[in-house]
Amino acid sequence: MAEHDPQHQGRLTGHSRRDFLRGSSLAAATAVLTGPAQAARDETTLAGSGPTVLSGQVKITLKVNGESRQCTVEPRSTLLDTLRNRLDVTGPKRVCDRASCGACTTIIDGDPVYSCTTLAVSCQGKTIETPESFGSGEKSVPHAFHQNDALMCGYCTPGFVTACEALLRENPDPTLEEVKRGLDGNICRCGTYIGVFRAALAAATAKKGD
Ligand code: FES
Ligand code: FES
Repeated sequence: MAEHDPQHQGRLTGHSRRDFLRGSSLAAATAVLTGPAQAARDETTLAGSGPTVLSGQVKITLKVNGESRQCTVEPRSTLLDTLRNRLDVTGPKRVCDRASCGACTTIIDGDPVYSCTTLAVSCQGKTIETPESFGSGEKSVPHAFHQNDALMCGYCTPGFVTACEALLRENPDPTLEEVKRGLDGNICRCGTYIGVFRAALAAATAKKGD
């Protein structure tokens, strides 16, 4: 199957969105070791110009769904844990917890990212969006999922909705093949792919009227 540019989902390259999602998580983890870590309250800087090491409890500020939210986390805390357990943002779901299924997908600075393998401290200064911010009006992605029976048990649904939202922002008029590629970082164990793809195309059509 042809695959696309991880940074620009509509373009074809040698990487799938699954590769990109994994890469984003690794990049985020690396950022924790090399970034300025300005919000670290308890930090020790290694001699010379080495990486900043965070330890203990770290006070962080995250911009979630347009709101500035503060909390205290351990440096190892994932964005998924922080959203769900510290900030009561429960749209992203924990299913595999190992960057395989996409149920925890969030949009970070416009890109779909697995929050279960992204460190919360690396998300400071970035824009984080979850399904809670997508609305439920007739032109929304959640409405299209509802109207097209795009779920059964629902465990995967928030992740698919989020990935679909990110896809349609990048490519407002996707073909079916582009929808399949755009959502290939998400897995549905119930096999509702036909409904999901139909919902994505329906949402694209509805949004054209915006
Ligand atoms: S819970 Fe994050 S990818 Fe499955
Ligand atoms: S609807 Fe059950 S896992 Fe997708």
